[in-house]
Amino acid sequence: MERLQKIIAQAGIASRRKAEDLIVAGKVQVNGKVITSLGTKISEKDEVLVNGKPIVKENKEYYLLNKPRGVITTTNDEKSRKTVLDYIDTDARIYPVGRLDYDTTGAILLTNDGEFANIMMHPNNKIEKVYVAKLNGIITVDQINKLKKGINLDGTLVVPQRVKLKKIDASKNTSIVEIIIHEGKNHQVKRMFESVGILVDKLKRERIGIFTLANLQSGEYRKLTPKEVAIVYSLKK
Ligand code: URA
Repeated sequence: MERLQKIIAQAGIASRRKAEDLIVAGKVQVNGKVITSLGTKISEKDEVLVNGKPIVKENKEYYLLNKPRGVITTTNDEKSRKTVLDYIDTDARIYPVGRLDYDTTGAILLTNDGEFANIMMHPNNKIEKVYVAKLNGIITVDQINKLKKGINLDGTLVVPQRVKLKKIDASKNTSIVEIIIHEGKNHQVKRMFESVGILVDKLKRERIGIFTLANLQSGEYRKLTPKEVAIVYSLKK
């Protein structure tokens, strides 16, 4: 038996919060009766209608995409720009797990499994996000040390797990730095470098937790294996 709002959310019709609103608003019927109480538990066999239409339970799907530049991570864009969903061939109502900026490339997960998404995004799980940043300018030892000590963003100190200088190109006046963080704050990596006085020119996410880009080319994706999904679920506290 599962809570009604969870079943509606799992069918991809609405978030759990929105599903609760639909229930309270009297839009949900179970076996022909309008249900407005949020505590209601139902089983697989019960027939659920939302706005008069039966809900269909979707199979869970999981993808890893190598996001190209110039693609947005939200599911719909009022400017009709390309979204990460345009790359995945599926009818399931999948959505991205977290976010990458329009101009950031690299690893992004997509799924219709809210629980999987929560595990990957929950700060307590400290999922590693590995970024490689190409910087405009030659980064100094002092700037690297400041980053290592942590940067105050939105009132919290974010301390990277690792900051590693990979390359300096004096002729082009650029530096390549790998940085590993656990959080997923808005524009986090760019803001961290900016706060020590150097700007990010290009940013790529090479890994999220166990998911590396390996040989996925830009715009390519693959399904996660059942074993990979099980590993993520094993992190659940
Ligand atoms: N940090 C950023 O600044 N941008 C991203 O897209 C991801 C992390």
